[in-house]
Amino acid sequence: MSYAGKMQPPISPVQSGVIANSDALAVQVDHISKVYTSRRGDVCALSDISLRVAQGEFLGLLGPNGAGKTTLIQILAGLVRPTAGEARVLGWNVSTQSINSKRCLGVVPQELVFDPFFTVRETLRIQSGYFGLTRNDAWIDELLHNLGLTDRADTNMRALSGGMKRRVLVAQALVHRPPVIVLDEPTAGVDVELRQSLWAFIRRLNQAGHTVILTTHYLEEAESMCERIVLLKSGRVLADERTSELLRHSEDSLETVFLRMLHQPAEPTPLQ
Ligand SMILES: Nc1ncnc2c1ncn2[C@@H]1O[C@H](COP(=O)(O)OP(=O)(O)OP(=O)(O)O)[C@@H](O)[C@H]1O
Ligand SMILES: [Mg+2]
Repeated sequence: MSYAGKMQPPISPVQSGVIANSDALAVQVDHISKVYTSRRGDVCALSDISLRVAQGEFLGLLGPNGAGKTTLIQILAGLVRPTAGEARVLGWNVSTQSINSKRCLGVVPQELVFDPFFTVRETLRIQSGYFGLTRNDAWIDELLHNLGLTDRADTNMRALSGGMKRRVLVAQALVHRPPVIVLDEPTAGVDVELRQSLWAFIRRLNQAGHTVILTTHYLEEAESMCERIVLLKSGRVLADERTSELLRHSEDSLETVFLRMLHQPAEPTPLQ
């Protein structure tokens, strides 16, 4: 799917310079496994996962606690090394071409990690600096506005509430206008107003051509936002279907379908 084919909302579009591989898949995961080794024994977090996400898709990555969602995201972000297999972001191999793959990816992490000594604006300027963006204030202002942070721009990070900190994490992930955005439980602990404004903003980014991968335990969010759902269980792909298809034969909500699938024997479904 190309950017040109989508409606352009009044937000800054994806930076074109980053996307050298314009025909590539947004995300390509081939036979990824991950075993964490510790003195207490090995934990197999991912077992032969393969996944393809086209540019412009809005994908829900769902699964119960411990299914392997964050591990997969951390592999895409180059923070965790897979035990086997290969992953690419917009065609860039996350292990061997990580400078480019990282430029293409923005991850909102599950954990609230921040430096308490900087203000919100300083935090976003420092993050911009990591990507060599020295004159990024217009986009930073746009992010602050869209995330309801404008009047907190000069507040120290440590003085923000948990929900406000999460907004800054979202802004931080978007500061380099990544074409691929991954949100790992972005709405955990945030109030209803932020949820709505956050979803409106993420939708507009998706409409502008950004690929979005979302993990959430709020299945009604996934049902309304995601056009396709990948369900992980115990490090394997249990289902990979369009949301409409998952719900087609059923009067049930995604939550009911999800629970039913989780309690079936784990048989990986073929890739689309
Ligand atoms: N650094 C680590 N060392 C050892 N085991 C780990 C590590 N990180 C994750 N695990 C294990 O890997 C498995 C997958 O964890 P992961 O955090 O990827 O799951 P998740 O789907 O994101 O879960 P949640 O919904 O709770 O966030 C779990 O069994 C977890 O305990
Ligand atoms: Mg997780």
